[in-house]
Amino acid sequence: MKNTFGSSVAVTVFGESHGSAVGAVLDGLAPGLFVDEDYIRRKMQQRQARGGISTSRKEADEVKILSGVFNGRTTGTPIALLIENTNVKSGDYDELRRLVRPGHADYAAYCKYHGHQDYRGGGHFSGRVTAALVAAGALCRLALRQRAIELGSHILRCGGVDDRGFADLDADIAALDTAMFPVLDESAGEKMRGAILAARERGDSVGGVLETAVIGLPAGLGEPWFDTVEGLLSHALFSVGGVKGVSFGAGFDFADMCGSAANDPFRMEGGRVVTSSNHNGGINGGITNGMPLLFRCAVKPTPSISVEQQTVDMENGENAVLRVHGRHDPAIVHRARAVVEAVTAITLCDLMAQRYGTDWPQEEV
Ligand SMILES: Cc1cc2nc3c(=O)[nH]c(=O)nc-3n(C[C@H](O)[C@H](O)[C@H](O)COP(=O)(O)O)c2cc1C
Repeated sequence: MKNTFGSSVAVTVFGESHGSAVGAVLDGLAPGLFVDEDYIRRKMQQRQARGGISTSRKEADEVKILSGVFNGRTTGTPIALLIENTNVKSGDYDELRRLVRPGHADYAAYCKYHGHQDYRGGGHFSGRVTAALVAAGALCRLALRQRAIELGSHILRCGGVDDRGFADLDADIAALDTAMFPVLDESAGEKMRGAILAARERGDSVGGVLETAVIGLPAGLGEPWFDTVEGLLSHALFSVGGVKGVSFGAGFDFADMCGSAANDPFRMEGGRVVTSSNHNGGINGGITNGMPLLFRCAVKPTPSISVEQQTVDMENGENAVLRVHGRHDPAIVHRARAVVEAVTAITLCDLMAQRYGTDWPQEEV
């Protein structure tokens, strides 16, 4: 029964897709941070559904800050964030009370909550709850920016189409910060959107891979065993519904490399230790080494599809056939990008606070 993540900076989420609201409580963020509401709004927009490549459920996603902010700055006490659900059509889900969706959380939730779960729109398991994470993550990103820590993600692959990899990290991250469909090569983006629309036409869905880079992190964050940077980030990233794989640096490609190619040679540059390559994604021994943090997330195709599927009727225990109707994303990956970045920012704030204390954004570290 745990909906909280983090130790020094912790986030708790609550709400259901078709309840009155979703929200988060963010605790442990430093006092005195300027709360840039325009920035929060921009980050919320990057998760919002738009056009034919997303669900037709459009929400205003207005973030109400109920506590922890005074005179436009954080107070250091818990920040309660509330986002009302304004576009709810629960009738679409009547059939799903009985027929559990393959690939979704319906059956697992039924087992855990003995049928008492709010099944409407996926209830507490809905991607809708991630709106609250994005709001909390935006505040954390404002804190990270105080120490010139920036992050960005792009869709590396979607519907069988590849984007180019990161090249100039500063420029790529700056461009991604304002991108609504985050790709580094716009012609690849065009093809990806075509693949998503084609899947939608077939009543199907597609998956993808997100690649994230973080620059400006100090060396020395993380712990050597259970609270490694990979461990904490994976914990947070696997909390995002639909994320099914996480890898750091060269990840699974390490399997085909020799040590001589996989190792990142050290050298001095401008008075600091750097590595010539970055196959380890900025982490050695679970601890940041001062190089850019690099990781990937595999995002599965949206489970709710209108293609006919086999399932079970939970009311009579008989086999049944299901075609999911209602409003669903034909791909999750482009919207999940904002959520992946949000949980990354929350985790990094937690790691910074663990090493440097609550006031880390203000202090020299
Ligand atoms: C931003 C976002 C939007 C999502 N939209 C949908 C959707 O429209 N329909 C759906 O079936 N799943 C959607 N999902 C995925 C489900 O939330 C997820 O598959 C479900 O919670 C089960 O978790 P699992 O896939 O990690 O096992 C979305 C996820 C995210 C992060």
